[in-house]
Amino acid sequence: MIIALFGASGRLGQCVIESATAAGHTLRLHYRAKPSENVPEFSTVVVGRLDDPTAVREVLRGADAAVVVLGHKPDARVPYIADATKLVVSTMKTLGQSRLLVVTGAMVGHEKGPVGIGMRLLSMVVRSRTADGMMEDRDEQERRVKASHLDGWTVIKPPRLSDGPVGDVDAGATQGVGLRSSVSRKALAKFIVQELEAPQFSQQVVYVAGR
Ligand SMILES: NC(=O)c1ccc[n+]([C@@H]2O[C@H](COP(=O)([O-])OP(=O)(O)OC[C@H]3O[C@@H](n4cnc5c(N)ncnc54)[C@H](OP(=O)(O)O)[C@@H]3O)[C@@H](O)[C@H]2O)c1
Repeated sequence: MIIALFGASGRLGQCVIESATAAGHTLRLHYRAKPSENVPEFSTVVVGRLDDPTAVREVLRGADAAVVVLGHKPDARVPYIADATKLVVSTMKTLGQSRLLVVTGAMVGHEKGPVGIGMRLLSMVVRSRTADGMMEDRDEQERRVKASHLDGWTVIKPPRLSDGPVGDVDAGATQGVGLRSSVSRKALAKFIVQELEAPQFSQQVVYVAGR
């Protein structure tokens, strides 16, 4: 499978590269600057801006699926993720592609979902302390994916991410997540690759927690 990856330089992005490569997949990787790390032998690197339709199209060219694991830097003040995701979606449509996995977070969006009361309270605190527009950028990202009309969209909502070892996860629309929940980036990456290979959650929002 050829996988287009947005957020390749990130910590989860690197785990997705490792997991997908180990499973024999080929990657088309978006970076906003030339990567300092080595990339897998048969992968393609596209360096460009995420508001550049030509760059986004080049990442997606020939891909069987796209994965978006973009995040904000802690000091970020300029929203970009919703617009970048919107451009990914519209470009996928013009290319006739439909499988899109997008990682947001258990605290993103306003649906109660299976999120415990403690995490919902924490989410309110985080929202009040986060720079204006940044949480809203993620809310809007989710909204746009869910409204994308792509046949194969999946929104993946993890709780806290850790750098622990790969392990098993529990996943589902009603999978409970709370303040004590976490999932390692390696385990989440493994789940993402499994979901690409054997879709279980198309057109669904899925919560994922480490076991
Ligand atoms: N940390 C947690 O506990 C947690 C919990 C739940 C969900 N999540 C979500 O999980 C996802 C992956 O997290 P992570 O820890 O892997 O994040 P990360 O290491 O911070 O990676 C973020 C990625 O976004 C890119 N990026 C940041 N600002 C950008 C911009 N203005 N334009 C283009 N690209 C930009 C980064 O590229 P550069 O390297 O070029 O900056 C990097 O590839 C994110 O969506 C995050 O919100 C995290």
